[in-house]
Amino acid sequence: MESYTLQLLHHLALTLVFAVYLSVSPTQQSIVPSIKTDAAALISFRKMIQKDPNGVLSSWQLNRNPCTWYGVSCSLGRVTQLNLSGNYLGGSISFDPLASLDMLSILKLSSNFFTVNSTCLLQLPYGLKQLELSSAVLVGLVPDNFFSKYPNLVYVNLSQNNLTGTLPEIFLSNSDKLQVLDLSSNNITGSISGLQIDVNSCNSLLHLDLSLNHLMDSIPITLSNCTNLKTLNLSFNLLTGEVPRSLGELKSLQILDVSHNHITGWIPSELGNACGSLLEFKLSFNNISGPIPSTFSDCSWLQLLDLSNNNISGPFPDAILQNLTSLENLLLSNNRISGSFPALISSCKKLRIVDFSSNQVLGIIPHDICPGAELLEELRLPDNLIEGEIPAQLSQCSQLKTIDLSLNYLNGSIPAELGMLEHLEQLIAWFNGLEGKIPPELGQCKNLKDLILNNNQLSGEIPVELFNCSNLEWISLTSNEITGKIPKEFGVLSRLAVLQLANNSLTGEIPVELGNCSSLVWLDLNSNNLTGAIPPRLGRQLGAKALSGILSGNTLVFVRNVGNSCKGVGGLLEFAGIRPERLLQIPTLRTCDFTRMYSGAVLSLFTQYQTLEYLDLSYNELRGKIPDEIGEMIALQVLELAHNQLSGDIPSSLGQLRNLGVFDASHNRLQGQIPESFSNLSFLVQIDLSNNELTGPIPQRGQLSTLPATQYANNPGLCGVPLPECRNSNNQPPVTPSADGDKKGHRLAAAAWANSIVMGVLISIASICILIVWAIAMRARRKEAEEYYQSFRCTAKGDVYSFGVVLLELLAGKRPTDKDDFGDTNLVGWVKMKVREGKQMEVIDPELLLVTKGTDEAEAEEVKEMVRYLEITLQCVDDFPSKRPNMLQVVAMLRELMPGSGNGSSNSG
Ligand SMILES: *[C@@H]1O[C@H](CO)[C@@H](O)[C@H](O)[C@H]1NC(C)=O
Ligand SMILES: *[C@@H]1O[C@H](CO)[C@@H](O)[C@H](O)[C@H]1NC(C)=O
Ligand SMILES: *[C@@H]1O[C@H](CO)[C@@H](O)[C@H](O)[C@H]1NC(C)=O
Ligand SMILES: *[C@@H]1O[C@H](CO)[C@@H](O)[C@H](O)[C@H]1NC(C)=O
Ligand SMILES: *[C@@H]1O[C@H](CO)[C@@H](O)[C@H](O)[C@H]1NC(C)=O
Ligand SMILES: *[C@@H]1O[C@H](CO)[C@@H](O)[C@H](O)[C@H]1NC(C)=O
Ligand SMILES: *[C@@H]1O[C@H](CO)[C@@H](O)[C@H](O)[C@H]1NC(C)=O
Ligand SMILES: *[C@@H]1O[C@H](CO)[C@@H](O)[C@H](O)[C@H]1NC(C)=O
Repeated sequence: MESYTLQLLHHLALTLVFAVYLSVSPTQQSIVPSIKTDAAALISFRKMIQKDPNGVLSSWQLNRNPCTWYGVSCSLGRVTQLNLSGNYLGGSISFDPLASLDMLSILKLSSNFFTVNSTCLLQLPYGLKQLELSSAVLVGLVPDNFFSKYPNLVYVNLSQNNLTGTLPEIFLSNSDKLQVLDLSSNNITGSISGLQIDVNSCNSLLHLDLSLNHLMDSIPITLSNCTNLKTLNLSFNLLTGEVPRSLGELKSLQILDVSHNHITGWIPSELGNACGSLLEFKLSFNNISGPIPSTFSDCSWLQLLDLSNNNISGPFPDAILQNLTSLENLLLSNNRISGSFPALISSCKKLRIVDFSSNQVLGIIPHDICPGAELLEELRLPDNLIEGEIPAQLSQCSQLKTIDLSLNYLNGSIPAELGMLEHLEQLIAWFNGLEGKIPPELGQCKNLKDLILNNNQLSGEIPVELFNCSNLEWISLTSNEITGKIPKEFGVLSRLAVLQLANNSLTGEIPVELGNCSSLVWLDLNSNNLTGAIPPRLGRQLGAKALSGILSGNTLVFVRNVGNSCKGVGGLLEFAGIRPERLLQIPTLRTCDFTRMYSGAVLSLFTQYQTLEYLDLSYNELRGKIPDEIGEMIALQVLELAHNQLSGDIPSSLGQLRNLGVFDASHNRLQGQIPESFSNLSFLVQIDLSNNELTGPIPQRGQLSTLPATQYANNPGLCGVPLPECRNSNNQPPVTPSADGDKKGHRLAAAAWANSIVMGVLISIASICILIVWAIAMRARRKEAEEYYQSFRCTAKGDVYSFGVVLLELLAGKRPTDKDDFGDTNLVGWVKMKVREGKQMEVIDPELLLVTKGTDEAEAEEVKEMVRYLEITLQCVDDFPSKRPNMLQVVAMLRELMPGSGNGSSNSG
């Protein structure tokens, strides 16, 4: 309080002095710049700022000295700095009023919500040295003569704006004082190869960032004139051509990032000359070919070498490693590097990550990586041609967290010594020839999260010691030769999310303790010799505590078996660093027909579902009833129980499984009727109840009757569409919507349309499959079995965009690339054009519109809903990936449109 009063007095004093200043004759004010004209300039600048949610500009009062105003700094009685960064200010501003601030040298307006036309950049005060205007919604072309107009500029940051057009060739030609230029994350297009840069114009330049634009053509060779450049970032553009040799003349370069472009050619050996000071070199995601030059041996300060995702070939030049003593990250995944694994890797004493994923590296893993490279944390070698045994000496790399050796030709047993790796989180070695037992010593790896050893020849029982690793999240031992029972100790693994033990020789009963695995969402036990009944509770239960972070950092592929060529629904594979096309070459997968349903990072909500999502118990010897409690696993999407000895009725509680996409209970001895509640299963894309002892009518509401007859074959008493009509009297009459009076009739009609788009979207696993069945209601009304439209499509690409294209295809009734319809563009372009023109109704398949003909009111409702579908779809195909919703959001939106999702809908439980 006291200091406040003091401050106030101080203010008053200043204000008095200031008031005296102000009383100087008004005619001089505009001629001789002074603190007074500065104040007036700032006030008129302030007038343009319409939004000031934090009220920071309330201190800007003409009766106070402007040097005390928020964000204003003075020197020698004049305003020299204005800093309003990060204050959520809004308004359409120009810099015209600031032009008279002739002593202003620093202007910081970053991170606000202004609208600034880039032509205003030419209204800035002449003496400006530092301009920070990133994330400030600067719009328009990059001004031609900017630096010739402001020769004093030293630091310019215009990143994260919407600068458009090309970078003028003379842009950098008068920038002899400029040290830092950041134009990253804008919308600058066109060629930069003709950029004029002479020695004078950039010998001060230290930092040039043009990343995340749409720049084209080759990297300008004139950049080599910027001899003091320390950081050059051209990443995430559309640059072509080769890496200029002349960059090798940049002797001070510390960071060179040209990743995510379309650069071709070899890495010039001259770059080795720029190596004296190079710390980071990134060329990833280009089309670079040829070998890694041995001149890199001079890069003794290099910490990061990222050449991943190119076409680099030839053996890795082992000898350079002797000199790369600072190297921490060696990232070479997705290339065609051949030859043996570099033996001298042990010279890199600071090495933390080695990634050779998806190359053609041969030979054995050297035994002496450690103690040399004893800081090694990640050893990633999946998808190579590595053979021999896993060296026990790896246990000396005591910091190891990740060992990924999948898809190689390793044999022998897993060394027990790996148990000494107390930091080990991931032991991933699926698809090799590993044999012998799982060493009980692995139980000492208290941090182990992923134990992924499917498709090997491991035998013996699952060691109980393993359950000391209480952090286990993903265990996959599918397709090995594991015997014995499933240990009941699995129940102690509270973070276990994925358990895959399929295709082994496990016997005995499924332990009821699996119901204690409170994070388990994926349980695949198919093709074993399991007996007994299905425990009523398995995996995650409703109300279980949310556990965060589980499986985060894993990269998944979910392959879905198609047809009956392989047992089980499919497999979830850890696919980090592996090329998707490698799936086709995997021998056992080659014998299965499969589609890749999802590949990518773990969806964030994957483990936040409330119950088990995937349950495959097929091909065992299970007996007894399907437990009623399975109907409580509300998140279940796959329920595969085929080829067992299950008997009794199908519990009608299963009708509560709203997310169920696959239900296969074929080849059992199930009896009774298909529960009427199954007509609520609107996400079902596959149901197979064939080869049972079922009787009675197939529910005609919902989507059961739209599926092929084969799915109901070999049941003695089933009848009704798609099977022959039921003979006996208990066949319900078809629904007559108008019979129940107008009000209800309307609701039914509206629901009917919604009902008629029945989509099966298998998320999270996350098959991007959708089934749309139109006008089932019409058919029911008219009893005309043919008059409906059914379409079922899948996309192998598990992304939202592809999903949007499929949705569009269905809504528009057109193929994505139909030249006759779309001219130069494609389906997506065509739809966007129509919608821009306000003609969205022309997009929707006329056949679908026909189907909706009903009462006018109902029809209007239905058309509205179709437009809503179209809107969701358009979000999926937005030009900017960042603006697209994620798959779960899409599904949530679609579900809002689903029957029974709104309030007051008829079916609740
Ligand atoms: C001024 O700028 C810096 C960043 O450059 C920022 O940290 C600071 O909060 C800004 N605002 C004020 C009122 O000084
Ligand atoms: C910026 O202003 C100029 C001249 O006033 C005008 O021609 C241009 O269209 C404006 N640009 C934008 C993006 O508003
Ligand atoms: C430019 O500003 C952005 C956002 O404030 C910041 O992240 C970036 O580091 C700045 N660039 C330079 C070169 O300082
Ligand atoms: C980039 O420019 C294009 C074409 O002018 C425009 O459609 C798009 O919105 C701009 N992007 C950003 C991020 O401003
Ligand atoms: C960016 O500017 C372009 C051209 O002025 C405009 O078409 C586009 O809508 C702008 N984008 C954003 C996100 O403001
Ligand atoms: C460097 O600048 C000089 C003029 O100072 C120019 O002649 C030369 O072409 C530039 N170098 C390159 C490689 O363009
Ligand atoms: C290692 O670097 C030094 C100087 O940086 C150089 O003289 C030597 O030839 C290099 N060694 C190898 C094997 O290239
Ligand atoms: C599993 O069952 C099959 C058929 O019932 C039998 O042939 C096989 O020997 C059994 N395997 C084991 C390990 O019990």
